[in-house]
Parts: sequence; C-alpha cells; structure tokens
Amino acid sequence: MSGWATASGPGPGRAAVITGIGSYVPPDVVTNEDLVARLDTTDEWIRTRTGIATRHVVAPGTSTSDLAVEAGQRALKSAGSAVADGVVLATTTPDQPCPATAPAVAARLGLRGVPAFDVSAVCSGFLYGLATAAGLIAGGVAERVLLIAAEAFTTLIDPQDRGTAVIFADGAGAVVLRAGDPDEPGAVGPLVLGSDGELSHLIEVPAGGSRRRRAEPSAPQEQYFRMHGRDTYRHAVEHMTRASREALSRAGAGPADVDRFAAHQANARILTAVADRLEIPPARRLSNIEHVGNTAGASLPLLLAESAAAGRLTAGHRVLLTAFGGGLAWGATTLEWPDVKAF
Ligand code: UT7
Repeated sequence: MSGWATASGPGPGRAAVITGIGSYVPPDVVTNEDLVARLDTTDEWIRTRTGIATRHVVAPGTSTSDLAVEAGQRALKSAGSAVADGVVLATTTPDQPCPATAPAVAARLGLRGVPAFDVSAVCSGFLYGLATAAGLIAGGVAERVLLIAAEAFTTLIDPQDRGTAVIFADGAGAVVLRAGDPDEPGAVGPLVLGSDGELSHLIEVPAGGSRRRRAEPSAPQEQYFRMHGRDTYRHAVEHMTRASREALSRAGAGPADVDRFAAHQANARILTAVADRLEIPPARRLSNIEHVGNTAGASLPLLLAESAAAGRLTAGHRVLLTAFGGGLAWGATTLEWPDVKAF
C-alpha cells in the first residue's frame, strides 16, 4: 500500500473501491484522411495540434445507452459479479432530454429497480461521477455502484466545423465501485472538484434547452456544440495543473510519487503542458488520444481500461487522475491501482 490518504466515508468500510473496469468504442473509425476529404484541414494540422490520428464514431441508430451497456457489461465482468445496487451514468449526450438514460441502461444490464440517474459534467463527468458514487457508498445508499461514462459526442458536433469535428469522438468506460476500506488498493482518494459558470460560453450548445427552446427558430449552428479552443486550452492547462497539485497534496503526496498520470484526453499538447508543469516524466504519462480522440466524459475510464489491458497500468501503480471541460468544470483525484483485469 502506498500510504496515500483516501476519501473515506463516515466510518470504516465506506470508502469507494474500484473492483472492475471495462470500456467500449463503436466499430466505425474515422481517419484524418476521411476528414481531409470533406473539411478544409490537413492530416499534419490535426496531428500536430491535437495528437489525433483516428477516432471511433457511432453509426446512425447507435445511441449513448448502447455504448453504456457494452462498457457496463465489461466492467461487471471484470468485477466478477453482475450485481450492483446503484448505477450512475456520466454523459453529455443522453438518449433523450427526459428521462435520464441511466435507468434504461440499468434495466438492460439486468439491474432493474436499483437507483439510477445521470450526472452532467461534460469532460469532467467521470470524476464528478466518482464523487457521486463515493457519496452513495459513504451514505449507505449502495454497496456496489456501477459508474459508466458514455458519450455519443459526435451527435452534437457540426460536421462542417473543422475546429471541433477533428477532435471529438465517441466511446464509453465504466468502473464498479464497492464499499471498502480507505487504505486498500483501488480506494478513491480525496476528490478535488471545481467549476466556473461565468465561463460557460467557452464550451456550449447554445440552443435546444429550456432557455433557447427546441421549437424556437434558431440558426442551425446554434443546435451544435461549439468551443472557443484557444481560451479553453489556457483554462484547461491551468485548472488541471492546479487541481492535480491539490489532489496530491490532500493525499499527502507530490508529483514525484505519481507512477501514472491519467488526464482527460483533450488534446495531446494540453496533456504535455500539464504533465510538464507537474514535472511528471513522459514514461509515466498515459495516453490513447491518438486512436480514440477526445471522447469527453468517457475519456478517463476509457484511458484507464485500455492502459490496464495493455499492461501500461498495473496493480500498485499510484495514479493521478485529472479532467477539465464544459461548465467550466474540472477535478482531480488519486488512487492506487487495484489488481483488476480490464475488459
Ligand atoms: O475536452 C474539453 C476541453 N477541450 C479542450 O481542452 C480543447 C482545448 N483547445 C484545443 O485543443 C485547441 O485550442 C484546438 C485543437 C481546438 C485548436 O488548436 P489551436 O492551436 O488553439 O488553434 P487555434 O484555435 O488558435 O487556431 C489556429 C488556426 C486558426 O486559423 P487562423 O485564425 O490562425 O488563420 C484556425 O482557423 O488554425 C485554424 N484551424 C484549423 N486549420 C486546419 C482550426 N481548426 C483547424 C483545422 N484544420 N481542423
């Protein structure tokens, strides 16, 4: 055991401990060449500015719940039990505006009847979901929570907007969390979360909600996701760096204690900038953005699952997690990686 402090609940045995992990990406792949064929962009621009070469996208007819069910099944398999008494789904792209998507996902996973609801924190959704799941466990509401982060994010993207169409992609990742002790491997550490709604306009879908209603006339672009890339970049580096430092400090650790750095896969340059500021060497940085792109809230569990499956992340590694995105919302936490087989 690392000795890192963890976010324990109101008594022994109520920490949230990761006991299974799985991920899923839809089969259709879009290459940079595919994008070059229909947008004013180049493979070189996309690779050098974002680090992305290929990404997975949902086919028409596939929705967030389809991705979530696949990832959820794999996480339950990894945990060695199909049982969970709570389901939390972090997503920006629910199947429909009402109701939440989580109950349908729970029912399809054979978990009909359990508390199930969505969490909306865009690219920080997995960390906000971890806090929510930890709270359910700490409060005694649940013993085993299935936390899924799933995004059919390309359904929000304007296919003609080269500033976002080359970056965002679809996928899902999930973990099973059980009640356990704060000092055991897999226990989620102190969670640092924050937001700044004054800057919500930097990342938004302007229309389609209760303020600019679906039925009201609006320019087609206002129904799509848009992002002020350069400003977002600056805030992403600043907040992920600061939240990471705070999470480490609350865990009684420093950057030198980090064996694996797992950041929301927003853009390869942002990841490098944050890791450089934290002085975490390249060999300790996890990344899969090159072949999955930016999958928003799904990116962290997808990264963890793929890294564990590839042997880049193994039991005993002390992991620093951080994310940043729309809201603005950000977060960070630490944990010692448990002995789990990722699917
Ligand atoms: O996941 C949630 C959080 N998201 C992020 O953290 C993303 C943050 N931002 C970014 O990743 C980067 O800002 C981008 C990848 C979105 C853009 O990279 P950048 O280096 O900041 O480029 P820029 O927005 O400053 O644009 C530079 C130029 C512009 O042209 P001018 O004005 O210099 O003539 C853009 O119009 O690049 C142009 N451009 C493109 N050119 C070729 C923008 N998109 C493209 C493109 N292909 N796909």
